[in-house]
Amino acid sequence: MTTQKATNITWHEGDVTNKDREQLLEQKGVVIWFTGLSGSGKSTLARAVEKELFKLGHAVYVLDGDNIRHGLNKNLGFSPEDRAENIRRIGEVAKLFADAGIITMTAFISPYRNDRNQARALLPEKRFIEIYVKVSLEIAEERDPKGLYKKARAGEIKEFTGISAPYEEPINPELIIDTGVTDLEKSARIVVEYLKQNSVIN
Ligand code: ADX
Repeated sequence: MTTQKATNITWHEGDVTNKDREQLLEQKGVVIWFTGLSGSGKSTLARAVEKELFKLGHAVYVLDGDNIRHGLNKNLGFSPEDRAENIRRIGEVAKLFADAGIITMTAFISPYRNDRNQARALLPEKRFIEIYVKVSLEIAEERDPKGLYKKARAGEIKEFTGISAPYEEPINPELIIDTGVTDLEKSARIVVEYLKQNSVIN
């Protein structure tokens, strides 16, 4: 846990509540947390869901690993400590987006169960939807969209998830989508259907 350094600070609320925002947007503000190996298809799936929801008239946003590491988290690497801080910041940002009423998707490997659970703990019950984007290491490595597995095998990248750093599978995620088996269109449909069934959208 990161402790708070600042003292003499007070939490402020305005008159516009989260409920007001959700009524305006006709949706619930949630965090959909995609987790899985590099190359599992997290970003691709999040983007497909984003497109579907946008077409249906929803306010959606994707926070994506590689993008966030260019900005907010550019001072972080891939040690367990840096990954924890990466996920902590994303969790906090995602919480703010959800509070604004946005359907917020995050696409980070987030390999450590404890880090993901801390992100979950920031949100009310039912407002954190963990989706395990499951794929075998063999398939992820075969896809190798960025050529990183090859480099990791050659020892050019240290602490690479799945090769020289761990990936801890979710124990009880809200959804598991196996992208080695289920195609993109169907995977996106499963997510959208889940949101309907759980009254995130109508
Ligand atoms: S996380 O583990 O902290 O959640 P994050 O999702 O932000 O990782 O970033 C993962 C992306 O960074 C990968 O998709 C890959 O493109 C790149 N990357 C670079 N080095 C590593 C590494 N050592 N392990 C995993 N991914 C890496």
